[in-house]
Amino acid sequence: MTAGSASIDLSGLLLFRRGKVRDTYDLGDRLLMVATDRLSAFDVVLPTLIPGKGVVLTQLSRFWFDLTRGLISNHLITADVSLFPAELLPHTKLLAGRSMIVHKAERIDIECVVRAYLAGSAWEEYRRSGQVAGEVLPDGLSQGSRLSAPIFTPAAKNDEGHDVNITLADLRALVGPALAARLEEASRDIFNVASDLALQRGIILADTKFEFGIVDGNLVLIDELLTPDSSRFWDATSSEAGQDPPSFDKQFVRDWLVASGWDRQPPGPDLPQEVVEGTRARYLEAYERLTGSPLPAEVMDC
Ligand SMILES: Nc1ncnc2c1ncn2[C@@H]1O[C@H](COP(=O)(O)OP(=O)(O)OP(=O)(O)O)[C@@H](O)[C@H]1O
Ligand SMILES: [Mg+2]
Repeated sequence: MTAGSASIDLSGLLLFRRGKVRDTYDLGDRLLMVATDRLSAFDVVLPTLIPGKGVVLTQLSRFWFDLTRGLISNHLITADVSLFPAELLPHTKLLAGRSMIVHKAERIDIECVVRAYLAGSAWEEYRRSGQVAGEVLPDGLSQGSRLSAPIFTPAAKNDEGHDVNITLADLRALVGPALAARLEEASRDIFNVASDLALQRGIILADTKFEFGIVDGNLVLIDELLTPDSSRFWDATSSEAGQDPPSFDKQFVRDWLVASGWDRQPPGPDLPQEVVEGTRARYLEAYERLTGSPLPAEVMDC
């Protein structure tokens, strides 16, 4: 495992954006997206790294981009460091396994969320208003209830703060009716393919978010795809499925954090070695279950 994956210093490169987990660099008409080993819990980035987590995230996105390419094109150019531009050669060891070169898109500033279960902010909205994204849902649903059919609940992206849930009418007003319809259709199509596949492997895809952009005049899928950081994955065999437990990759570390008495304000506590190991094992398990094969050791160790 390479060192320094908390904040990978690629000196000489122009930072495009540093998120909670990923560092993205500007290569002109392309971006270099690097998933670090940072972990955020309760919206706080913890001081302890989970070795290999960034590799798992990148390889999962890559798996889903390949699988859904027939439904919609995506921004991925390559995740193979041997094909990266020469200017990145000095950083090969840091980048291998955890990074992708993608087309820089004109981003559509909408998070396209599809939900099959009532969890997270949708549950909060339903509890307040009986509606989600402007659609009235049946009475009597509880936290984590399965919806009769998946719903599309867009949110306006806000790079400085929390995204804001909007209605379908708002979406049409923002991007026009034709693009709004395409975003919804593409999101639902990808969701259906992914949730069917996940369920065959004992995992419920409770909800996930997609981002889209325009490259050379065409609509493409961008950002990360169907990773534990952008999706709620529940273990279908767990008795808690359907009660809005945390995504199964995070449950273990969250249980430890709650038991530690941490007040959820930054900075978070250092994680003990066994919690690091347990969390890493769960990310690897998520990869193996979703893709049907273990992450090859040479990818994990590169
Ligand atoms: N192909 C692309 N072209 C242009 N922008 C992109 C592309 N793919 C992803 N993005 C944008 O790059 C940024 C990646 O940031 P990242 O996800 O690391 O952090 P964040 O979204 O700001 O915060 P968080 O850590 O909460 O996700 C996002 O703003 C995303 O919309
Ligand atoms: Mg993001």
